[in-house]
Amino acid sequence: MPISLGRSAMLRALLALGAACAALPAAGQGVGQVVVYCSVPEDWCNAVARGFEQASGIRVAMTRRSSGETYALIRAEAANPRGDVWFGGTGDPHLQAAEEGLLEEYRSPLLDQLHPWALRQAEQARFRTVGIYAGALGYSYNRRELERRRIAPPTSWADLLRPEFRGEVQVANPNSSGTAYTMLATLVQLMGEEPAFQYLRQLHRNVAQYTRSGAAPARAVATGEALIGITFQHDAVAQAVQGAPVVVVSPAEGTGYEIGSMSIIRGARNLENARRFYDWALSAEAMAIMPRVQAFQVPANRNAPVPPEAPDFSRLRLIDYDFARWGSSAERTRLLARWDREIAALPR
Ligand code: G6P
Repeated sequence: MPISLGRSAMLRALLALGAACAALPAAGQGVGQVVVYCSVPEDWCNAVARGFEQASGIRVAMTRRSSGETYALIRAEAANPRGDVWFGGTGDPHLQAAEEGLLEEYRSPLLDQLHPWALRQAEQARFRTVGIYAGALGYSYNRRELERRRIAPPTSWADLLRPEFRGEVQVANPNSSGTAYTMLATLVQLMGEEPAFQYLRQLHRNVAQYTRSGAAPARAVATGEALIGITFQHDAVAQAVQGAPVVVVSPAEGTGYEIGSMSIIRGARNLENARRFYDWALSAEAMAIMPRVQAFQVPANRNAPVPPEAPDFSRLRLIDYDFARWGSSAERTRLLARWDREIAALPR
């Protein structure tokens, strides 16, 4: 049915519409900024910041820190939060932060586009975090160096204890790095806690250096600085595709994995922009950035392309990682304290 308006009613309607339009920023014309704490590799952080700025017009202030460090920072700033969004990094410390009341509940309209494993992460935290990618743990070795020294390639966790790898293994410190915490919790789940700590004591003899960031050992393997680096498999793949003589191993006994996560920080000063960033970051378009910056995790959005280089989960021997338990505040705190006491303090 056609609607007819008198002249003055029409004028009033047009004026009201004009006022409403002036109040709304046009697409790509956002206001203000959003402060993002980023725990994925630097290139990806930067590409995400640029991508969101272009899509929204909102300025992104981004800093990169490892997962455990970001958790500690958010906790330290709880009374006076400076960050708005925590983008990426392993899920366990996100879950711990959620349990400790450091994160804001948010149910994005894009949740129904996600894989069940990403949604489960959100449900477990009562929507205070969400999965954005998945990655499997493993290690890599420098093929050229192994051949030169005539060392047989390792294939298992047990192989990393071989005497020829003395001082040749790099892995991160599980306090700062989510990758290394994933290894700690994986070994405990795979072997049982006592045998896992026995294993870590023996591994300690072969570890040259506990790095701060989880992916650093993969770079050390690529340059030959280390023979072996324990990282997520996709971090080693990123080195291999750039031509480094790196071979990626999924340990024969089985391995753990991460649900890389994203959260809004409780008390975020730019809450509305934080939600816009979060919605955008969950979109297939935002996740299509990943392979462009050699991030070969499995993206959480079902419509995002899975790069052919991403390790194929269906062919990996994965443990049934209990995120609720190992991401809980009590267990994560306890395991890290035990690692500090019994492993980090050991002489080599
Ligand atoms: C790398 C991986 C990510 C992982 C992150 C954790 O960047 O590519 O998949 O989430 O490490 O970083 P962290 O330094 O905390 O181990």
